[in-house]
Amino acid sequence: MAEPAIETSSILPLRLESVSYEASGKRLIDGVTFDLRAGTRSVILGPNGAGKSLLLRLCHGLIRPSAGNVSWAAASGVAVPYRQAMVFQRPVLLRRSVAANVAYPLRLRRTPARERHARVEEALSRAGLSALAGRAARSLSGGEQQRLAIARAWVMRPEVLFLDEPTANLDPAAARAIESLIDGVHASGAKIVMTTHDLGQARRLADEILFLHRGHLLERADAATFFTKPKTAEASAFLKGDLSW
Ligand SMILES: Nc1ncnc2c1ncn2[C@@H]1O[C@H](COP(=O)(O)OP(=O)(O)OP(=O)(O)O)[C@@H](O)[C@H]1O
Ligand SMILES: [Mg+2]
Repeated sequence: MAEPAIETSSILPLRLESVSYEASGKRLIDGVTFDLRAGTRSVILGPNGAGKSLLLRLCHGLIRPSAGNVSWAAASGVAVPYRQAMVFQRPVLLRRSVAANVAYPLRLRRTPARERHARVEEALSRAGLSALAGRAARSLSGGEQQRLAIARAWVMRPEVLFLDEPTANLDPAAARAIESLIDGVHASGAKIVMTTHDLGQARRLADEILFLHRGHLLERADAATFFTKPKTAEASAFLKGDLSW
């Protein structure tokens, strides 16, 4: 089957309505409602254990809510799974070359070879990995592996890119390289939804903040407002470095 024609109608906004998630008898996400619109970089911010990764997985459809609804605006027949990609904190790479990892999702969708090669080259170049194309993916450094994971997501030209703590465990220079790559993906037109517990990163990247604490969405605001006038005591404490789980 050839790749379906490019859809012009947007799958956004993504809407969460009273979404809860329970596991092991605990309510880990509690009654969260918001929508995510096209264009902006939305950052889910909160301390360790707040539920950021769970919330992102609920958005991406990797787990299902115990209660409430997650829905895309897409018209029926639009292949939503192909239009959103996710990058995990620890990239899962195939035991193949860097280029083969990027080509893999295109092969799955039977993209013709000529187009596949062009898109792989472009994605590698944008991620600064052209010189490493032939290397074994698993021999790359942590920062290079994370850039590869983003290149592999970007090659599909997703409308929405989800990233879960994409720079955790990276040194500041490698983290900045990831941040500029994320900016590049955003500039190419993709909606960015990412989690972080890193305030500096949230300040650098976020257009809007969704502040999560103990499974509750306590605040949602544009970034400037959140950082200068947080509404809750928890967010104020978090901004001062005083909030722990
Ligand atoms: N399957 C599960 N069963 C029980 N508890 C779980 C399960 N999955 C996650 N949790 C708990 O839910 C809470 C939220 O987890 P989550 O991974 O979403 O946090 P997080 O905000 O991403 O934290 P971090 O900043 O450390 O990545 C944690 O206390 C975690 O231990
Ligand atoms: Mg997490």
